[in-house]
Amino acid sequence: MSSVSRKVRREQDKTIGLVPTMGALHDGHLSLVREARRMCDVVVISVFVNPTQFALGEDFEHYPRDLTKDAAVLTDYNVDYIFAPSIEEIYPKDFATYVTVGGLSDQLEGSSRPGHFRGVATVVTILLNIIRPDFAFFGQKDAQQTLVVKRLVRDLAFESEVVVLPTVREESGLALSSRNSYLNQDERRAALVLYRALSRAKEAYKAGERSGSRLAEAVRSTVAAEPLATLDYVTVADADTLEPLEKLDDRTVLIALAVRLGKTRLIDNVVLNRKKNGGETAG
Ligand code: PAJ
Repeated sequence: MSSVSRKVRREQDKTIGLVPTMGALHDGHLSLVREARRMCDVVVISVFVNPTQFALGEDFEHYPRDLTKDAAVLTDYNVDYIFAPSIEEIYPKDFATYVTVGGLSDQLEGSSRPGHFRGVATVVTILLNIIRPDFAFFGQKDAQQTLVVKRLVRDLAFESEVVVLPTVREESGLALSSRNSYLNQDERRAALVLYRALSRAKEAYKAGERSGSRLAEAVRSTVAAEPLATLDYVTVADADTLEPLEKLDDRTVLIALAVRLGKTRLIDNVVLNRKKNGGETAG
């Protein structure tokens, strides 16, 4: 058993909250920490840039890392433990066991980033096993990730409850992301197109549009009008199963997109007609 898990578990009869992150902390991460602090007796934040969720040629090496700064940011948040393991601590020599969540992992981010969700599911499994939290906190910003994690928690009978919190945005609408730091000034301005495109689809939905392909087209044409942006994908799908939808009827709908701006790839999403709490609502 690792020393952090021994320490955390010594806190008997206390509820433990885990906030998994890759660091470069921003207000999106911190909203998860704040809610964990509100709900749990013991708050653990993990900071680990997980190599297995980056495909070859992606930004693993360039991903922003500054643990000193992250720790300084966290001083205002009263967390109990910062768990920042080395790669060897998580993946010992001859590591050979991976977790794959079938179906949900293959489309959208999964098809653009092969192996991504196998890496996410594997590291989240390891973190849940080390920390054994009562609650684990994730952001709606990574909508598909929340579904993959919820499924893995259920299928592998973890006793943790997954808590999903809304996407934190700049006033401009741009979703906070550690990758925003890659953008130059022009790209940052162009990046507003993600939220603009989603908002246009949301408005169309509110006005009564119920065709999946027409909502996707609203997103596509908005992104196409921004010269610095290239659409990777847009999907209009069932928010629980990711099944692409043509007729939306009264289902909860996820509109998710990925856009490239120069070398940077950003994702965002909105949820329409949500029946329970969490995430953004409309319609
Ligand atoms: P990372 O990208 O660092 O994000 C950590 C958590 O913060 C995720 O649950 C993510 O959805 C949430 N988050 C990021 N931006 C957000 C925003 N603008 N508003 C609200 N929440 C936001 O996601 C990962 O790391 C990794 O895949 C991880 C789960 C840690 C596994 O390695």
